[in-house]
Amino acid sequence: MKKAIIIISLFAGVLVFQAIKPDAGLIEFASADTTDVNPNGSSELSLLMRDMQKYTNQAKADLKAGKTPASFPADFNKLFTAKISENNSKSEFYNQFGELYISSVKNYASSSTENRVETYNNMVNACLACHSQHCPGPVPVIKKMKVE
Ligand code: HEC
Repeated sequence: MKKAIIIISLFAGVLVFQAIKPDAGLIEFASADTTDVNPNGSSELSLLMRDMQKYTNQAKADLKAGKTPASFPADFNKLFTAKISENNSKSEFYNQFGELYISSVKNYASSSTENRVETYNNMVNACLACHSQHCPGPVPVIKKMKVE
C-alpha cells in the first residue's frame, strides 16, 4: 500500500504527495509531533488563530485586572495572506470578516475605560462572525470568551 503511494507520487509530483502524506504517514507523524495539536500539521492560518486566541484571552484577563490593553499586534494583518489548511477554504466574504476583526482589535487596543468592555465584546463577535462561515469547531470556545 505504502509502496504504491510512493510510486504514484513519483509520477504525479510533489503536490499529490502533499495531499496523500497525512494519511500515509499518520502513525509516524502523530507520534513524532508532540508540540502540534493537529496530527496533520497546522496551517499558517491555524497558527495565527492561536495567537489571536492568546491575545483575546490576555485581553480578557487584562480587562478583569483593570490593565490597559496591549497594542494591536501587526502580525494580525497576516490574516489576509496566511495559508489555510488544505481541507478548508475561504468564503467570498472572508476578507470583509477579516477587515471587521482587524478594526475591532484596533478599537479595543485604543479603547478608554468607558468603552473597553464593549470594544472587547465587539472583538469576540468579530471572531464569531467569521466563524459562522468558516471552521465551526472553535465556536463554543469563542463564545465563552465574552464578558458580561
Ligand atoms: C476572517 C475570518 C476569521 C476570523 C476573524 C477569526 N477566525 Fe479563527 N479561523 C478561521 C479559519 C478560516 C480557520 C481555519 C484555519 C485553517 O484551517 O487553516 C480558523 C481556525 C481557528 C481556530 C482553530 C485553530 C487550530 O488550532 O487549528 C481557533 C481556535 C480559532 N480560529 C479561534 C479564533 C478566535 C479566538 C478569533 C478571534 C480572536 C478568530 N478565530 C477569528 C477564520 C477566522
